[in-house]
Parts: sequence; structure tokens; C-alpha cells
Amino acid sequence: MKKLFIKTHGCQMNFYDSEKMADLLKPHGYQVDDSPEDADLIVINTCHIREKAVEKTYSELGRIRDQVNLRREKTGKKSIVAVAGCVAQAQGKEIMKRSPWVDIVVGPQSYQNLPELIAKVDPLTKNNHINIEFPTIPKFDHLKSLVNKRGPSAFLTIQEGCDKFCSFCVVPYTRGAEYSRPIKSILDEANELIDKGVKEITLLGQNVNAWNAEWKDNKVWGLGRLITELAKIKELEFIRYTTSHPLDMDLELIEAHRDVSKLMPYLHLPIQSGSDGILRSMNRKHNVKEYINVIEKVRNYNPKIAISGDFIIGFPGETDKDNQATIDLIKEIQYSQAYSFKYSIRPGTPAAISLNQVNESVKNSRLQEVQSILRDQQLEFNKNSINSSLKILVLRNGKKPNQYLGRSQYNQSVYFSSEEKNIIGSTININVTEAFQNSLTGNIVHI
Ligand code: 5AD
Ligand code: SF4
Repeated sequence: MKKLFIKTHGCQMNFYDSEKMADLLKPHGYQVDDSPEDADLIVINTCHIREKAVEKTYSELGRIRDQVNLRREKTGKKSIVAVAGCVAQAQGKEIMKRSPWVDIVVGPQSYQNLPELIAKVDPLTKNNHINIEFPTIPKFDHLKSLVNKRGPSAFLTIQEGCDKFCSFCVVPYTRGAEYSRPIKSILDEANELIDKGVKEITLLGQNVNAWNAEWKDNKVWGLGRLITELAKIKELEFIRYTTSHPLDMDLELIEAHRDVSKLMPYLHLPIQSGSDGILRSMNRKHNVKEYINVIEKVRNYNPKIAISGDFIIGFPGETDKDNQATIDLIKEIQYSQAYSFKYSIRPGTPAAISLNQVNESVKNSRLQEVQSILRDQQLEFNKNSINSSLKILVLRNGKKPNQYLGRSQYNQSVYFSSEEKNIIGSTININVTEAFQNSLTGNIVHI
């Protein structure tokens, strides 16, 4: 077997893609290895959302070049280097120009062609290959029956791309237009995952709740209907989905949060800012009131649901008053946990050329204030779990002897001890005894 090293940056969709690349390359003799030093094939799966993504990719590539050269000097073996993901999509030929020793550049919609691209790489001559097209036959059609799953929890991509064009975001450019995967291929992959012992599936998409597809009866299904159907798979116990857009939160999906017990009471619903003016310049296509209404409706259908979100702090033109509006909104919603990021320029997006960029130190102090409130809310939410019983899926061993880590229905990490063996993948109830910022501890409730 040849050794394959994959370094993954960014979101869950990239992690899913990396798993798929590994599955895809296995029949071609590549076995995943966790060290790059002696790898025959190195794949860097890049993310364009992170700050200075492009520069970071080039410096990472510089380090890899040194490793690859060292290996060649020592062993005479050449390593193939492929750059995948959103920076590959956005930079394309530029990567070949700045790092001509890179063998393959492949975009997120084209990695099904990796085996073919690898076969074309000639170890003696310098000939690199690039494929960053958005193919007309979606990659999922090429990736059927590639499930090669370990562990009780798995991702399943059902939707890709985005048509929303928020003015700060690169996704519509790097991942392309919204595409919904057909129902049959989703159900097939879900069943394959279950056959491999998976108990929890997280449905993925940049705009996962925009997913829709036609079924045999010519009816168009939305995400709520899909979740209801997936819940019929007996061995599947936990269903999650991420990430959603407020405008696509339709009634069927909200009803599923009341009616489908396997759908976890957790909703990641980004708003990005609590100021209507900023939402307008972000081109979010909804205002604060509409967002609050969606959350209220969801809470009416499932009062215990945990709400999560994303915030961008220091978007061009943001004033202290706008930031205060974000803080007011956070206080009104009461998040179980949320992510907040300093606005950073993504070349090629409309906000990047705004002349009203916020000063870095102002951004830093606003971010600190927002994060401190979010941290308090998270701790408060976790503390409210003390003395209650949570249903958790046991994911893996903890670091301490006899310790296990599981995930609660509200997406909290829960540590507990047990003498029992072979409990990974089982569903158990935990009585929570202690709550921390990022985790809980407790004891198994034997029923
Ligand atoms: N600057 C800061 N954060 C960003 N995000 C997307 N683009 C940017 C940017 N230019 C954040 C948003 C999004 C999350 C995935 O990343 O909050 O929801
Ligand atoms: Fe980016 Fe906005 Fe689309 Fe989300 S909805 S992926 S933030 S453009």
C-alpha cells in the first residue's frame, strides 16, 4: 500500500470531502497515514473562510516542499502533492505559478477526478494538472458506494454551494451555485452508513435547509420531509443538520423539530449581526425581526431547543451602536453556544473593496466583548444541565482510564467513567454532575 496524508482545514464539509477522497483513493492502493514525512501522496484540503487563507496555504506549501525534498534526498522517492478545497478553487493557476512543484490542483467539485489526475503525474518530468471546473455531472454521481466508515457518527453531504451572495463571503465563488443532492443517493448513503454501524448522521450543506428535491410522486421534498424519511431507518438514532439560513427555515422543518424525536433539539442558525443596517450591507436578505420571529417559532414547536449561531464583528461601516445591537440580540436570543469572527477581507467579495473598513483594534475590543457574553451564555446553558438526565451517543474513549466522551442531544461534550467495555456507539443516559465552559461531566443512569 502507498501512504496517503491528508491535511484538512475548515468546515465539516471539508472533513467530509477528505474522508471521501480517502475512500476514493483506497482502491488505488492508498492507505491513510497520519504523518506527512513518508507520504507518497499529500493532499492539502484548504479552506478560504479562514483569515489570510491564501497566504497560509502558500506558507504551508513551503513547509511541505521542504519535507518532500528531504524525502527525495533520503529515499529517492517522489511524493505527489495535491492542493484541494476552496483555496484551490479560488487560486487555480496562481498556485501552479507560485508553487510550480505542486503536482495537482483540484477544486471541491472535481476531486472525484483525483485518481485520474494522479495517474497523469509523471514522476520524472515536471507536468502539473489542474481541475477546478464545476462539472455538469455532480461529483456525487461519481462517488456512489464509497462509504468506508469508522465510528458511530458520520457526516452526509446533501447540499452544496450557495446562491445567497452575502457580501463578505467567498462560498458562492468557491463552491458554486446551490445544488441539492437527489433523494435516492442520500437514502442509499444513509443506509450504507447504518450498515457500517453509524448511529448518528449530520446532514451537511452550506445552505443545508435550502435542500429540496423531487421524489417519485413528482412532489418536491424539503429538508423536513427528508429528515422524517431518514428517521424511519431503525438503527439511525440521532439526526442533525448544519448550516442553515434563516430564510430557508420552512414550516415542515420547524414541525420536524416537534414531531421527529430522532432529530436533535439543536439549531445552528447564523445571523451575523444584530443591526438591520449592517444586515443590509451584508446582503443577508433578512432583518433582525425576521430572524427573531424564526427563532420564536422554532421555540414554540420545541421549547427546549438549543440555539447556536455565527457573528461577524467589525464588518465595514459597523459602529459602536451596531455592535450594541448585536449584543442586545445575543442577550435576547440566549444562545447555547455560538461562533464569532472578526470580519476579514476576502478578495473578490463586494465588502472587500468597502472604504469603511473598521480599525483592527476596534474590531478586537468589540470581539472580546461579544465573545465574553457568548461564553457566559454557554456556561449558563451548560450549568442548567446539572442534575438533569441527558441522552448521549458514546463517541470515543476519553484520555483518562475508563473515561468516555459522548455528545448530548444539545451538542454538548459529555465526559463520564464506566467499567463497561464496548459501549462506543451506544446511546445512554447521563446524570450531569458538573458543567464547564466546553463540556459536562456526569454518571451513567442505569434504567
Ligand atoms: N470574515 C469573517 N467571518 C466570515 N465568515 C464568512 N466569511 C467571513 C469573513 N469574510 C464566517 C460567517 C459564516 C462562517 C462560516 O464564517 O460567520 O457563517
Ligand atoms: Fe456565505 Fe451567506 Fe451563502 Fe452562508 S448564506 S454560504 S454566509 S453567502
